[in-house]
Amino acid sequence: MSGSLRISLTRRYRFAASHRLYNARFSEEENRRLYGKCCNPRGHGHNYTVEVTVCGPVDPATGMVANLGDLDPFVGREVIEAFDYKYLNEEVPAFRDRVPTTENLCREIYRRLKSFPAATLERIRVEETGQNSFEFAE
Ligand code: NI
Repeated sequence: MSGSLRISLTRRYRFAASHRLYNARFSEEENRRLYGKCCNPRGHGHNYTVEVTVCGPVDPATGMVANLGDLDPFVGREVIEAFDYKYLNEEVPAFRDRVPTTENLCREIYRRLKSFPAATLERIRVEETGQNSFEFAE
């Protein structure tokens, strides 16, 4: 089998976190208009689903693009442990000065996983609810 054949692998992960959509540069009224109940002062939670897609050539010896035994602990350390059961606004440094919308969550997860050594990170998709999902790919 040719080593140049590139295959994508997508793996799903889950974490729960809370956030508040609020931008200190805007007035209370403007925040309320922009974010509605999502800017309630005590925040609210979501059960997020993250799809991580990596791609690369199939290793002729293992028959795999990337070993899940490498991907799972990497995502576990960089994303799940960092975000699970956290208040994103205060416990994840990237969101101290950036509103933790799911769009920005996608970007931050992509940034954290980009250095995965065993394959190329292709795409991040985050589901915030059954109705909303966001994707980031370079
Ligand atoms: Ni929300």
